[in-house]
Amino acid sequence: MKVHVADHPLIAHKLTVLRDERTDSPTFRRLVEELVTLLAYEATRDVRTHVVAITTPVTKTNGLKLAEPRPVVVPILRAGLGMLEGMSKLIPTAEVGFLGMVRDEETLQASTYANRLPDDLSGRQVFVLDPMLATGGTLIAAFHYLIDLGANDITAICILSAPEGIAAVEKEFAASAVPITIVTGALDEKLNELGYIVPGLGDAGDRLYGVV
Ligand code: URA
Repeated sequence: MKVHVADHPLIAHKLTVLRDERTDSPTFRRLVEELVTLLAYEATRDVRTHVVAITTPVTKTNGLKLAEPRPVVVPILRAGLGMLEGMSKLIPTAEVGFLGMVRDEETLQASTYANRLPDDLSGRQVFVLDPMLATGGTLIAAFHYLIDLGANDITAICILSAPEGIAAVEKEFAASAVPITIVTGALDEKLNELGYIVPGLGDAGDRLYGVV
């Protein structure tokens, strides 16, 4: 598994404002969108392309275009939805599927409660959007789900990650034939006893959309 932790002053600045408890929801949503676009630039480094012949006003040349079938972007509901706009800005032609995962706050186990995905993801490159990689339970369940549908290359974009979550995903997919990459804005210190990332930013869904 490949892990890429962003190292860029603009990302660090935006993350600092995002973490601040005084940041209101509209600002939080805008920052998440901007951060995802910056992280997506790194996450799509190995997006599949093919060579095409074109003619510029000056000459004939070859260029690269996104290969078919297009990548599939999968936000994990609910908080991953706040990341979709930022990703779509970079790959507007990607197909979008949705996966609803819920975490039992006592056992911290994740389960699927909804999905809207192609039945067959054979050979597809998939980008999963989940802002908080905490215990890793949600991503592990989501990755298994996508691999079972045939996905053969998975990259997750996470705004923040905990070392425990990265280690859990790494262990779970150590022998997997499917290449897995995690691109994250920061690797935080640890999880607390409630499963929250420390220092973190609190509950990403609540901060994006308010407490329901
Ligand atoms: N989910 C969140 O929204 N925040 C955390 O810190 C951990 C999981």
